Amino acid sequence: MKPKVLITRNLLPEAMNFLKDKVDFEIGASGKNITPQKLLNKIKDKQGLLCLLVDKIDRDVIEAAPRLKIIANCAVGYDNIDIQYARKKKIMITNTPGVLTETTADLTWALIFAAARKIPQAHRFTSEKRFTGWELDLFLGKEITGKKLGIIGMGRIGKAVAARANGFSMSVVYYDPKKLNKEVEKQLNAEYVPLDKLLSSADIITLHTALTPETKHLISTAQIDLMKKDAILINVSRGPVLDEKALADALEKKRIWAAGLDVFENEPHIQEKLYSLDNIILLPHIGSATYETRLKMSMMAASNLVQGLSGDVPDNLIS
Ligand code: DGY
Repeated sequence: MKPKVLITRNLLPEAMNFLKDKVDFEIGASGKNITPQKLLNKIKDKQGLLCLLVDKIDRDVIEAAPRLKIIANCAVGYDNIDIQYARKKKIMITNTPGVLTETTADLTWALIFAAARKIPQAHRFTSEKRFTGWELDLFLGKEITGKKLGIIGMGRIGKAVAARANGFSMSVVYYDPKKLNKEVEKQLNAEYVPLDKLLSSADIITLHTALTPETKHLISTAQIDLMKKDAILINVSRGPVLDEKALADALEKKRIWAAGLDVFENEPHIQEKLYSLDNIILLPHIGSATYETRLKMSMMAASNLVQGLSGDVPDNLIS
């Protein structure tokens, strides 16, 4: 008998194909994300769960699934899962590290450029047929080449962002609880500095830390107050790392120059004030959204799930 699995929402077709003769799966919801109630109902008899970062796998869900052996998250971040409780219940947890590093670093740079050079604003202006001729001071942005980039969270994605900065002759400073070894620092041309120093000296600050109780609101009013008046702040990690209300107030007062966000504290809800500001770029959590990468994520999650259910240690076991 094939193991019973809940897939909260359809993966890309190649991954569904891979799974079809290996597990007996049920799709939680189609065309939209599964509701918490549906998840609770459908998980009851399942041995495997393949879920997305929007699915909250809390104690109630784990309690509702006495036969559950593995939770395969289709994301590198796993703050949506109650890891401690799953561990207590001896349920394996897997994620999808590595495959989305470069794509997410690319999007970080897209946001940096969009914010620094006001690309969305200029596009809107042009497509609204308001371009009536070259002007010396039309959409004046900020230079990127030669500036100082501050990276908070120097894991895989932080490092990939740093590697790209060398192409723009930037100096790179970083903060992370774990200092890199000298060789990697040299290779990336990145200097470790305390958080306060990074905040007060960088021209562009970008967040790449995982969400943990320690990193929640790592950046709030006090930290924004340390930033340069013309700093640009980017968040492509997890929304709650940044106090969104504090950012909205700071942008409204022009306390910093601009921000670019791909993630929000209570997705899909966004601080109302942010919609009306012209010094922010908002994206709908698309850091890893290329077909190639989402396919790799889907395949990796599917493969972890099958490995765990067939008694093997999954390649990307977290706990
Ligand atoms: C992840 O995998 O954690 C990313 O946020 C997906 O884009």
